[in-house]
Amino acid sequence: MVIYSSNGGMSSIFERKDNVMIWNEQYETGNELVDSEHKELFSLVRGVLQDSEDEKREKIEESIDFLIKYTVLHFQHEEALMDECNYPESAEHKKLHDEFAKTAVSLKERFAKKGDAVELGTQINTVVCEWLIKHVLNSDKKLATYYKNFKTT
Ligand SMILES: [Fe+2]
Repeated sequence: MVIYSSNGGMSSIFERKDNVMIWNEQYETGNELVDSEHKELFSLVRGVLQDSEDEKREKIEESIDFLIKYTVLHFQHEEALMDECNYPESAEHKKLHDEFAKTAVSLKERFAKKGDAVELGTQINTVVCEWLIKHVLNSDKKLATYYKNFKTT
């Protein structure tokens, strides 16, 4: 599947990142709650991408709204783990969450204003997918390891 790329304008296309947003063990943090919520997040992102491709405005608005609500709830769960183990990188990690939540809301608002499903799909592909993957692989894995050590020592 393909979608328009932001680099090079409307003429260039790149492969949609559904394949990246399909769960595999490299994304596993080892924390059951975090992993199950990440799987759901990945699935919700794929849903928004699909809805963007279908260009059904109401459905897109619904799915992005749910994605944001779920993301915020998930962040709260991770932050509760940080508090529980006095995670030393808590402030930095929470800041990343806050910034991402703001970005997601701004994407939603931009879509509500412009109704441009192609643009939204592109932004989800780039901003959201990339942030999520990077965040899971770096920040969340680090947190899960620290939390596990805290619980077992
Ligand atoms: Fe996180």
